[in-house]
Amino acid sequence: MKRIVLFASGSGSNVENIEHYFRENPEVSISCVLSNKRDAKVFERCNRLNLNALCFNKHSFYGSDCVLNILKSLNPDLIVLAGFLWKIPDNLISSYPNKIINIHPALLPKYGGKGMYGMHVHEAVKNNNEAETGITIHFVNENYDEGAIIKQAKVDLNPIDTPEMIAEKVHHLEYEHFPKVIEQVLMGT
Ligand code: GAR
Repeated sequence: MKRIVLFASGSGSNVENIEHYFRENPEVSISCVLSNKRDAKVFERCNRLNLNALCFNKHSFYGSDCVLNILKSLNPDLIVLAGFLWKIPDNLISSYPNKIINIHPALLPKYGGKGMYGMHVHEAVKNNNEAETGITIHFVNENYDEGAIIKQAKVDLNPIDTPEMIAEKVHHLEYEHFPKVIEQVLMGT
């Protein structure tokens, strides 16, 4: 049995999609969903889906080994950032080399780095009149959005697309590719 721990900060639609993908797979379990945001919609989803979920604050994450100790007790084969917006601290990176993956809603290295998350990314893509955007799934290292790329997928944009429409196109790519990539990486662990 392979164990995944998910981190999420927001709506959690990727969490729900990942849960749905692995629901019938007895070889993979989602041990817990960890979030930095007490009122995030992801907690409602976890309740509905019967997923374990925990909330932590800044001090637990950056000022102590609290989150690291929780992870150690869960003993995950893979840690998946599914819409998680805080930078991962060094104690987690060094404890889980090549075992943390992230999804970014753009074609890195474009539109990455601090402040580039969620709708900010899609607004920047719109403002630059990009003809295409996409997703990047990558390993997480000590530099924001710079770890080795595992998979990218693209989608064409129309000049009339609003940032919301771009977000929808990108979410569609995320739902299609992220669970499959998680499965592939898990099989290699
Ligand atoms: C996703 O589009 C994900 O790529 C993005 O947050 C969204 C979360 O959506 N992640 C980042 O921007 C990380 N820098 P969700 O909560 O509905 O899954």
